[in-house]
Amino acid sequence: MLTRKLGVSFFWCVGLLGLVLLFPKGVVAVEIDRISGSDRIETAVEVSKKGWADGSDTVLLSRANAFPDALAGTPLAYQENAPILLTQSHKLSDATKKEIQRLNASNVIILGGSGAISNDVESYLEDEMNVDVERISGSDRFETAALIADRIDANSRAVVVSGENFPDALSIAPYAAYRGYPILLTLKNDLPDVTKNRIDKNERNYVIGGTGVITKSVENDIPKSMRIAGSDRFETSRAVAEAFPQGNADETYLATGLDFADALTGSVLAAKTNDSLLLVEKNYVPNPAKLYIAEKRLTKFTVLGGYGAIDEYVDTEVSLPIQLLLVNKQRDLPASYVPEKLEEPDVPFPFDYEHNKRKMNIIAVEHLEALFDGAERAGLDLYAQSGYRSYERQKRIYERNVQEHGEEYANRVSAKPGHSEHQTGLAMDVTSPEVDYRLVEEFAYTDEGEWVDEHAHEYGFIIRYPDGEEHVTGYKYEPWHLRYVGKEIATYMKSTNRVLEEYLR
Ligand code: DAL
Ligand code: ZN
Repeated sequence: MLTRKLGVSFFWCVGLLGLVLLFPKGVVAVEIDRISGSDRIETAVEVSKKGWADGSDTVLLSRANAFPDALAGTPLAYQENAPILLTQSHKLSDATKKEIQRLNASNVIILGGSGAISNDVESYLEDEMNVDVERISGSDRFETAALIADRIDANSRAVVVSGENFPDALSIAPYAAYRGYPILLTLKNDLPDVTKNRIDKNERNYVIGGTGVITKSVENDIPKSMRIAGSDRFETSRAVAEAFPQGNADETYLATGLDFADALTGSVLAAKTNDSLLLVEKNYVPNPAKLYIAEKRLTKFTVLGGYGAIDEYVDTEVSLPIQLLLVNKQRDLPASYVPEKLEEPDVPFPFDYEHNKRKMNIIAVEHLEALFDGAERAGLDLYAQSGYRSYERQKRIYERNVQEHGEEYANRVSAKPGHSEHQTGLAMDVTSPEVDYRLVEEFAYTDEGEWVDEHAHEYGFIIRYPDGEEHVTGYKYEPWHLRYVGKEIATYMKSTNRVLEEYLR
């Protein structure tokens, strides 16, 4: 296990994987552990060593290369205070065998039938290792999950997740386990009888995942249901963490959302320590998780899995402040996201009505005011035109652009809802009387436009969509769109001619 502290005294250049990243002054001090082995089987062993240093009577054993039988395992593992270990199908993997010996376990619960973990493995455990083996196996994954649920102490609540893919099951696993809710599985379009029978009399059934994985009609078939979902696996992961806050959580586990094994075996540990688990991409922290981390002021992380599953840049990303949030065509924001605090900067607008577009994220407000003071001192007539936009407002703006210019052109000048920096409150469009307060390229050739280009970085702002960078930023030149990133980064980007995508990788 690796432990590192990041961000305490970093300031100028830190080389990471060939990337020269400049840390801003306000970088968050974070502590990062990583639990990893050379592969998923050994990572499971490392999780077991960390969580069960003094041994364990019971071990759950799951197949290493397929998820269906294991999805429902975490609550049972938590109840039995047992780690989940992984094995090859036809032979007990060496690292797992050694770990079962180290734990001094006397019971092994195999998840799945002999097709998943062979009878040879079962006999080996019983005959050569002298442990009692129980196999929980149904005729399919849905029945296996129901049989696992039968082994869990009675609870009048349960969760239902897709049995066709793993991410949502992993997102909910530590929370369900901690609360003793069994995990049942469903098809997207059809609720299997075996699942329905198990949840019919519950006082509450949580449906995890969006309508892309569990349809409305299946939700309607689930009695007393409450759906917790986002638009993709990463948003759902954040939504689940928000819906099931962990009381005394002091740590956050990060697992890849692209494979099941590390999150599965790590989820028992997260339940055991009553901590949150968030799913991340291989080489970055998706915005839903980043925003959750920032809002909850989380500073202690355990990354589950090796650098092949989650690379080192993720360690860096969790320490970056919110002013470095990357929002673009690839990285979006949850529809429900509103900055924690929005405030109106004291700068001139060419209109006098109240409107949320006057507002900015509070962290940028005084910097924009300073920029406007600077422009005024230079004898210029700078105006602010458009700051914060809600998801819904961006949707209307984008749709209007599509109607007026067609989709292809609209995509060059306007972000789809959820993909606009304006939703972060960190952007402000500026203009001047010389261009009739419009947001047009000619602004660049006005005195105000030239001054902004030359001086914005001194106040922590960048021109986010520079001329000739559409192939990187995804948008046509916008000399009016200022984005707050902080003075050090803005200055660095200006001096190196980098756009945010290049600076952040
Ligand atoms: N015009 C920028 C790209 C936006 O719509 O956010
Ligand atoms: Zn803009």
